[in-house]
This record gives sequence, C-alpha cells and structure tokens, in this order.
Amino acid sequence: MELPELFQNATTTQSKNTARDWHDFLTRNRFDFSQIEKIDFATPAPTITDKKNNKFCIDFINDKKNYHKKKLSIKSELLSKALGGGKLGLNVLDLSAGLGIDTVFLAQLGYHVTAIERNPLIYLCLQHASEQMLEMNIKVIYDEATKFLKHNTSANQQKFDVIYFDPMFPEKTKSALPRQEMVFFKKMVGSDEDAGQVLEEALKTPNIKRVVVKRPLKAPPLLQKPSGSLKGKLVRFDIYGVEK
Ligand SMILES: C[S@@+](CC[C@H](N)C(=O)[O-])C[C@H]1O[C@@H](n2cnc3c(N)ncnc32)[C@H](O)[C@@H]1O
Repeated sequence: MELPELFQNATTTQSKNTARDWHDFLTRNRFDFSQIEKIDFATPAPTITDKKNNKFCIDFINDKKNYHKKKLSIKSELLSKALGGGKLGLNVLDLSAGLGIDTVFLAQLGYHVTAIERNPLIYLCLQHASEQMLEMNIKVIYDEATKFLKHNTSANQQKFDVIYFDPMFPEKTKSALPRQEMVFFKKMVGSDEDAGQVLEEALKTPNIKRVVVKRPLKAPPLLQKPSGSLKGKLVRFDIYGVEK
C-alpha cells in the first residue's frame, strides 16, 4: 500500500520501514493528522512540519543544546537532589516523557529511566531517538500515566524507586514567543488537565519512596501540600515523600 503524501523522503530501505511503521502505529492509535503538513524521513531524526510551518523533531544525538547539557553530579543537580540524589535508588519512572530532555538528563547522571508518553507522535519521535542511544538506560513506553500506574501495580510488574512528573505548565499570560518546536509541541499535547489525578495515582504506588513534581516557581502545588520543595531560578520541584 502507498503511504499518504505527508510521509516524505523515505528513500532508503531503513527509512521506508520506519515510515511504514510510523504510519501503521499512528493510524492504529487514531492519530489526528489534520494539523500535519509532512513528516520528513530524510533527516537523522524524522522532522515533522505542521500546517503553519512549525517544525519539530527529537534528536538526542545532534541536538546538543537540549540533550548534552553540562551536568554537575547525581548528588548536586537540583532535579536529582529532589529525587534523592541516588540514595533512594536509581530506578526512575518518568510519567511525562515529552521531549525527553529530563529523561536523557537523568539517564546521563546514572539513573535508569522508564519514560511514559501518551501522545503517539511524540512517542514515536522519542522511541526513534532513544534507539540511537542504546547505551543509555532509557525505556520509552506508549501509555497514559494513570493507566500505566494502575496496571503496573495490579500486575505487580516493574519496581521503581522514585517517580517524576512534569505536566505542561499552565498558560502564561505574557511570554516571549516560544521556539517553533515549542509551538508545535504545545499544540500537539494540550494542557494536561488531568495532572492532579495522575499525581493522586502516583502517590498510591506501593513501595515508591518519593514522587517529585516539576512546577513553575510561583504556581500552587498540583495537589496537597508537598513534604518539601527545591527551588531553582525558574522552576520548583515539589517532593512528596511517600515513605518516611
Ligand atoms: C511538559 S512535557 C514534559 C517535558 C519533559 N519533562 C522533558 O524534559 O522534555 C509533558 C509531556 O507529558 C505528557 N503527559 C502528560 N500527562 C501525561 C499522562 N497522564 N500520561 C502520559 N503522558 C503524559 C504530555 O503528552 C507531554 O508530552
């Protein structure tokens, strides 16, 4: 079967297979293609262009700005500190993979990260990017976080030490025009209105030692008062210490 026109420049056997897999996965998961102008398979990481010409791609290798940040250590990076600095264990469940920036950051610090993403197109981009970096301890799963948590608990499957959650920030009233990737990304994933329910479910996870939520510096906590917070220049990590 011919692929729809928006799947472009798949010329090698490998990129043809990728394009076919993406088409089948997106169709199976009822992805809404109406905003997409093209998905270009000629670039190292497939590049998506929307109808307003915003481009988007996730490339762990070539995007040095987002994925090769200078890092301190597992003990001193703020997010890592919030997660226990490695002392509570290295198995992190990231409930909001998104662009994978935090996922990669944590993996590079030495954590083993399982990252959940519910948007099928973002998931495919992440999965493709993580296949280019197999040496890192990253596993990307296509699922909705609450469903994943419920199923993982009832089936007594994977054990995690800590959970990290970074839902989309509430709309700012005034902000500089975001980069085109951010425009695309925000449009694609929406505003994560169910974030409170996700946190509630995360807090029920048996044997989890800590749940950490990223928030804008001045925003109220997502749910009840956290047990503590670590503040950075722009964001805050709320810590829910489930196990005392
Ligand atoms: C703000 S972004 C996360 C950014 C990410 N921490 C990073 O460093 O790139 C939020 C992402 O989490 C995903 N997400 C939000 N709620 C989710 C849920 N309940 N289940 C699965 N994915 C979710 C959204 O689709 C979006 O891609």
